[in-house]
Amino acid sequence: MVAAETSKNSEGGNDLMKITRRGVHLSAGLVLLTYVTCHLLNHSLGVVSIEFMERARRVFIDPWTTVPGTALLTAAILTHLGSALWVTYARRSLKMPAWQWTQLALGLCIPALLIEHAMATGGAAMRFGTNPTYAFVLAEFWVFTPWKGWMQAALLITVWGHACFGLHHWLKFRDWYQPWQPLWYAFALLVPAAALLGYVSAGLEVSRMAADPAWITQMIRDLRYPGDSMNRYVEMSTMIWLGVYGGLIALTFAGRYVRIAAERKRQGIRVQYPSGRRVLVPSGGTVLETSRAGGIPHASVCGGRGRCSTCRILVLAAADDAVNPPGDAENKVLTRLNLPNNVRLACQVRPTADITVEPLLPPDVSVKDAMQPGKFLHGREVEVAVMFADLRGFTKLSETRLPFDVVFMLNRYFKSMGTAITDAGGQVDKFIGDGIMALFGVDGDPDHAARAAIEAARRMADELNVMNEVLKNDLAEPLKLGIGIHMGPAIVGTMGYGDAAGVTAIGDTVNTASRLESLTKDAGCQLIISDAVTDRARCDLSGFPSTMVKVRGRQDELCVRHIPLGTDLPDCVIVDPD
Ligand code: FES
Repeated sequence: MVAAETSKNSEGGNDLMKITRRGVHLSAGLVLLTYVTCHLLNHSLGVVSIEFMERARRVFIDPWTTVPGTALLTAAILTHLGSALWVTYARRSLKMPAWQWTQLALGLCIPALLIEHAMATGGAAMRFGTNPTYAFVLAEFWVFTPWKGWMQAALLITVWGHACFGLHHWLKFRDWYQPWQPLWYAFALLVPAAALLGYVSAGLEVSRMAADPAWITQMIRDLRYPGDSMNRYVEMSTMIWLGVYGGLIALTFAGRYVRIAAERKRQGIRVQYPSGRRVLVPSGGTVLETSRAGGIPHASVCGGRGRCSTCRILVLAAADDAVNPPGDAENKVLTRLNLPNNVRLACQVRPTADITVEPLLPPDVSVKDAMQPGKFLHGREVEVAVMFADLRGFTKLSETRLPFDVVFMLNRYFKSMGTAITDAGGQVDKFIGDGIMALFGVDGDPDHAARAAIEAARRMADELNVMNEVLKNDLAEPLKLGIGIHMGPAIVGTMGYGDAAGVTAIGDTVNTASRLESLTKDAGCQLIISDAVTDRARCDLSGFPSTMVKVRGRQDELCVRHIPLGTDLPDCVIVDPD
């Protein structure tokens, strides 16, 4: 008990640490994005003139060179980089989705591309009091060492790509972001495009002016060039920082390797998958990391951040305390999707003993699909009301009609009946020929489901009358409808294959509802409704006495009510059972 409590507390602590680290990483990233945006906007003014760029520097760049600005920027760089290296070290597997690899690779390239430029501008300004004007920087990139100019263009695209990837993957799970996405894409494309345009335009201007030695002399004077000592300083400090950075990356990956090797020596646990495959991993990793390490395809749109729910698994077998309880963030997702207790997020489950799991969503599932409650319902027993409806005599009618007329009439019928069902609170399960199967209460409470089914039958009868009136000149006799409704437990889940997969129900309740619909033919009534439905609905249907009927496939007779016309149904007045 104490152990379980301690483990729960430590999980809570881990969750909190993870959330805090992500928050700090994100905040630092936002500071850096603001800095980069200022920089790029300043570059874009190169389309006007170098002089204009220089003047705008006071607004866009100078605030970042003040003491608080430099402190904020330095803290953001160290925090963002440190947190990224830590996450890389702590990863159990480097098998990640392509977007995560791109994001990481772009991020790791940035310091390597940036160091020399940072030393020649900010570093030299601090060391020698130089004034790194745009004229100096552009002359360096366009006249003296053009290869560095290409490197800076690559840096611009790398930084911006990294920032946009990060921000997009952070925001994509927020509902409010969806309508703003086109605007974000426009911003993400326009800012670097304008910056590159300004950079090229100003670079060409500098190339022309640099032909004049007097301009070069003035540029060097404005720079407050201290002589060769600056070149030596930039060279040396660049080498040192590149060495330090390269060492940090090497240490991160080497440290990770040593840690994993040490963990492998300790006894591992087995995670078993439905294919029978077992993956042996050191305890402490998540099921998602295990899938990745074992090369088992596993959906993870958010990259293991507990946000998308696409990695969800069914925990089929696990000893008590073999899995950590869900933390707050995971609970939120599970509750929102109304998932049963044995469904968990693979990226949040850290088994401490052998476990059998089944990934529930296809590896290529989208977040949109995954977030739809019910879209991937996994076989659970639910008490539902099931309705079958069939259009009488339509087959005969269709033999005398042109195909166009048949399709038109059927579609009109499906639309009317479908609307009646959904407006009453049900869902059309499928259209079978001219028949309809509908479910009530898949996600809701059974009492309400029963009332909704009765209400749907009444609305459908109304709709049929309207249809008959509209088509009276085309029909030899009015269309007739037979409806059967029964209620009880059924297995509800997503069934089918590929695009034909959908939520449906199977079981005796479904079969019985179908048989009741068939019985309406012989009984000469529009609706047969079982007492299981009326009892649940507690509607006053005393005007239609109960009778016992024999239903094919059932041993016992079933108590039902025959309703001559659905329009005869009263408004559902709830009867007190007492
Ligand atoms: S990978 Fe997104 S919730 Fe687990």
